[in-house]
Amino acid sequence: MKILESHRAELEKIIKRLDSSFFYYDLDGLKDHLQGLSSIMQEDPDILLWYACKANPMSAVLKVFRNCGFGIDVASKGEIDQVLRSGIKPQNILSTGPSKSRKYLRELLEEDIQIVVCESLNQLYWLNDIAEALNTKPQVLLRVQMEWEDGESVLGGNEITPFGEDEQTWLTMDKRKVENLDILGLHVFQWGNILDIKRLENIWTKIASQGQELAKKLGIKPRVLDLGGGIGIPYHPSEKSVNFQDVHQVLKKLKKQNGWEKIWMELGRYAVGPYGHYMTQVIDRKTVRGRDLLILDGGVNHIVRPAITGQSFPVELFRKSNQDMIPFQIHGPLCTAMDNLGTLELPKDAGPGDWLCFHQSGAYGFTEGMPFFLCHNLAAEVIIYEGNVMIPRTPRKAEEWLV
Ligand SMILES: Cc1ncc(COP(=O)(O)O)c(C=O)c1O
Repeated sequence: MKILESHRAELEKIIKRLDSSFFYYDLDGLKDHLQGLSSIMQEDPDILLWYACKANPMSAVLKVFRNCGFGIDVASKGEIDQVLRSGIKPQNILSTGPSKSRKYLRELLEEDIQIVVCESLNQLYWLNDIAEALNTKPQVLLRVQMEWEDGESVLGGNEITPFGEDEQTWLTMDKRKVENLDILGLHVFQWGNILDIKRLENIWTKIASQGQELAKKLGIKPRVLDLGGGIGIPYHPSEKSVNFQDVHQVLKKLKKQNGWEKIWMELGRYAVGPYGHYMTQVIDRKTVRGRDLLILDGGVNHIVRPAITGQSFPVELFRKSNQDMIPFQIHGPLCTAMDNLGTLELPKDAGPGDWLCFHQSGAYGFTEGMPFFLCHNLAAEVIIYEGNVMIPRTPRKAEEWLV
């Protein structure tokens, strides 16, 4: 979690050119990472990895996934349009998301997107009717919301959420109403950002065995089990990355022990998070009732995650300093105390004019922010690819989008 020395000179130029907060994505690092993952898929074709593009739908990012052999998971019409515009073929698209109307389901099939995760009985029956009308037979996964001992997660954990149906409800499925669908298996995903491989294994083991029983009761062949995402990335220096070889071993074991033919995942955070960085400038520094505060040009208007999860992105001072590190309470520019990026250690001489780099912000960054509140500039987006810098999105001023 350090700025690469090979990027530093380019970043200095970008700072001068844009003079406004920006994300930058290291697509060379992303490509290396994805090539590692796709070599595992090649070795074991029964394990299929998709990319959940909600994590970062920028076209340049999508193209790296496409070129590394990943299909894309979409969860909105906007994502479908973006993915198709980025040259991904409909047969390499998987559709998830709890809010699929009849109209949307029809659009999926009309676009020839034929793999659909149904998140309700309604969706399933609507899809069946549309498939009949269009004379096609889409492949379907039933999304199941299982009960757990307890626990919360961004994906709900044991909370009641809009994702999928419970097992009892799926058991009421009327098979006569799904004759135009090819039901491939189940999708279960309720736990996000987990770094402990043992914990992932425990969660997935329960899903695989309970899912197998459900499939039997439903009378469907256990072909595909989709485990969603959920592999974490370190946001704190004390945390360690998950090694995908370990994940692969666990998935292989699950498949063997529980009789699933194929295991799928749609990775978001783990696939792209470490390859994005958010750069913003320190505007002010003050000491309030004994605490050192930094106020930045950008905050949760650009990266909202710390306010939602209470978890900070790791930060680094862009300039080199050999001063001692001290804790700063770091705030963005919004007129709400919620615009708090955390209390993080920085060299004690950090202050106005300095730039900060927040790492691990390639996933759930740019598109998850609340960019319009208070009418600051939108964040720019910069890519570094084959060592070259491109600026596909310059900072947009409020006058460009306010009416
Ligand atoms: C259906 C689905 N699949 C995959 C993901 C990606 O999850 P992660 O970023 O934990 O890999 C998400 C994230 O919300 C999701 O909703």
